[in-house]
Amino acid sequence: MSNAPAEEIPAEEIDLTEANEVIDKYLKLPGNLMPVLQGIQDAYGYVPKPTIDLVAERLNVYPSQIYGVLTFYAQFHLKPRGRFIIRVCVGTACHVQGAERITETFFGRLGIGHAETTPDLRYTFEKVACLGACGMAPLAMVNDDTFGKMTVQKVDEIIETYNARPMK
Ligand code: FES
Repeated sequence: MSNAPAEEIPAEEIDLTEANEVIDKYLKLPGNLMPVLQGIQDAYGYVPKPTIDLVAERLNVYPSQIYGVLTFYAQFHLKPRGRFIIRVCVGTACHVQGAERITETFFGRLGIGHAETTPDLRYTFEKVACLGACGMAPLAMVNDDTFGKMTVQKVDEIIETYNARPMK
C-alpha cells in the first residue's frame, strides 16, 4: 500500500446528493454562501472541488468568489481531513522543551508531514502556535484531548490508543 499522504478524492467519486440537500436548505435565504459551505464541510469533512462548482452554479456566484471565502476562513478545508487531528505546539516554550523531536517522531511513525493526512484518513497532522498551556510543554492535542510533557514514548502511546479507536 502507498504511504503517500491522502489526496483529494477524484471528482467522479463525489456523491453530490448531500451537497444538493444543503443548498436546497439555504437556497432562498440571503447571505447563504457561508452556511452552504459550512453545511457541505460538515457533510463531507471538507469542501470537495465538485461541490464548489455545484455551489457556483446553483447560487449563481463565481467559483473564484467561493475560493476567496474558503481560503480566507481557516475553518474551511479543501482536502480530506483525518478522523483524528493531531496538533503539536511549536510555540517558544514547547520549542525549547523539544517540540521538534515530538513532531519528527509523529512524522516518522505516521509517514506524513505538516498539514498532511494519512491515506486511510485516520490522522491529519498539524504544527500549531502556542496552545496556551506552556506549563505543560511540550504539548500535543488529538482532537479535544490534551497531552502535556510529551515524550517519544508518549507519541507511541498516543498512536496505539487512537489506532484502536473506531473511525466513526
Ligand atoms: S508554547 Fe506550547 S503551549 Fe504555549
